[in-house]
This record gives sequence, structure tokens and C-alpha cells, in this order.
Amino acid sequence: MRLAKTVRSKGDTLAISTGILGLDNMLKGGFSDGDITLVAGSPGTGKTTIALQFLIEGIKHGEPGVMVTFEYLPQRMYRDAMKKGWDLKKWESEGKLKILCTTPDILTSMDAKGRTVLDEAITEIHAKRVVLDSVTHFEFYGKQPSELRQEVSGFMNHLRLHDITTIITHEIPEIIGPTMHISNFGLEFLVDNVIILRYVEIESEMKKAIFVLKFRGGDHDRKLRHFELTGKGVSIESEFKGVEGVTSGSPRITVTQRARELI
Ligand SMILES: Nc1ncnc2c1ncn2[C@@H]1O[C@H](COP(=O)(O)OP(=O)(O)OP(=O)(O)O)[C@@H](O)[C@H]1O
Ligand SMILES: [Mg+2]
Repeated sequence: MRLAKTVRSKGDTLAISTGILGLDNMLKGGFSDGDITLVAGSPGTGKTTIALQFLIEGIKHGEPGVMVTFEYLPQRMYRDAMKKGWDLKKWESEGKLKILCTTPDILTSMDAKGRTVLDEAITEIHAKRVVLDSVTHFEFYGKQPSELRQEVSGFMNHLRLHDITTIITHEIPEIIGPTMHISNFGLEFLVDNVIILRYVEIESEMKKAIFVLKFRGGDHDRKLRHFELTGKGVSIESEFKGVEGVTSGSPRITVTQRARELI
């Protein structure tokens, strides 16, 4: 088996780097080979950016990637990525990347040989990484949760036939607050790993929090960490210190921190 630089030892298995050092550290090295990871978050929290960084990490180390988008037209994606110095168009012309702008219906339809447009794209560029941005669009057809679960589950099982590692993104409608609704069809149970991106209000400032909700690969960081979106992508900062109840969106200062402030 070819070991790219992005693949590192993770105990007795292999770790696939996410392309974000702080996130790799939270995952004790990265994803496991073949994982399907859900990156779910509130609007504008950085879902697409994390997914792109994951693809770019592969591209830079000889692992081509396919980006499936239901949201962007290629020109807009090229333009936005270029602002961060990511030349998607060039990588596409070099056969290292393929961007598929499509709809869930087209994506899941199979030809007479049982192949989808994604199968063709993966085969064409020998992709090792795939991004689906975002699976929320599967919900737009008014299907019942059980039907939706069956459809998305079937699609994921189809993906697992390939030798690829996948990120799928999903929207969490709540901006802030004590409740968090991931999906109404059990999406979080269908994937191997779940990473959550949320807004939290601390001292009248909206900050972003990231945490690993589920990780089938084994041990992972249990802390909620502050992260920033920068001109170069995602930067994971330290844990939220001196506050508790961060997942509620409105954290309280801990007793210890309050005591520190009084001293
Ligand atoms: N140069 C930059 N510096 C700081 N923040 C930036 C920069 N460029 C983009 N952003 C932030 O990135 C966010 C968009 O990132 P991204 O598209 O990855 O989020 P998303 O979660 O996929 O959004 P959506 O919910 O619309 O799909 C914007 O809300 C903006 O605040
Ligand atoms: Mg997005």
C-alpha cells in the first residue's frame, strides 16, 4: 500500500491528516483510512473551509480529491478559495481535483452499470478524498425521515465501496442556544465521526467553538476549543478556560474563575 505523507501512524492503524494541525491533534493524528466524517455547524462557521482544507491537504501530498457541491458554481468557488491562496482551477487542470456542481438527485442516480457521476469522477482522477457539501440538500425534497435515512445510508454504503476518506458537511439551523438539532433522520448515527461547529457568546462577542462529538477511531480530545477563520483557513485555538456551559451557547463564568477575578 502506498503511504502518502498525509498518512501517519495512529497506534496500529493509519491516520489521515485533516490539513488542520489543531484538528489533527484533537483527533490524535487524524481520521482513519476510509472514514466518513460529518462536519456539522451553524451558518458561516467554516464547514466548507474545513472540507476544502482536508481536500487540499491530500492534493498537496499526491492524493487527488473530489468536491461535490450543491451550493456553489465553480467560478464562485474558485474566486472564494483564491482569496485564501488556494488555486482550485489550477489543481483541476492538473487532474488533482474535480469539482462536481450537481443536485442530490443527479448525484445518486445510477447508469445501467450501477455507476454514479461521483464514481466516474473518483475513478477518473484516482481520488483518495471526497467532500460532499452539504448533505442538508438531501432534505429539500420533502421526503420522510425514514426514506431520507435509507437514501443517505445507501449512498454512504455506495461511497464505502471506494478506497476513499470522506467529509460530508451539514447545516445546524440554531445559531446559538441550549438546544442543538443535528438532523431529523439520524445522520449522526450513519457516519464514523462527528465534528460540531457552534457559535458561543462570551462577553458580548460571538466566538466559534469546535468539538468532536463522536470518533469511531478511538480516543480523541474531549475539550471544546475556540477556533478562528482566518485568511489562510481554520486555526484551532485553546480550550475555553474559566467558563462552563459552552455548548449552551451562553457560557457562565466558573466559580474558580470568579474567585480568581476577585483575588
Ligand atoms: N479572510 C477571512 N478572515 C476571517 N474570516 C473569514 C475570512 N474569509 C471568510 N471568513 C469567514 O468564513 C465564513 C464562511 O466560511 P465557510 O463558507 O467555510 O462557512 P460555512 O459554514 O460553510 O458557511 P455556510 O453555512 O454558508 O455554508 C464567513 O462567515 C466569514 O466570516
Ligand atoms: Mg458552506
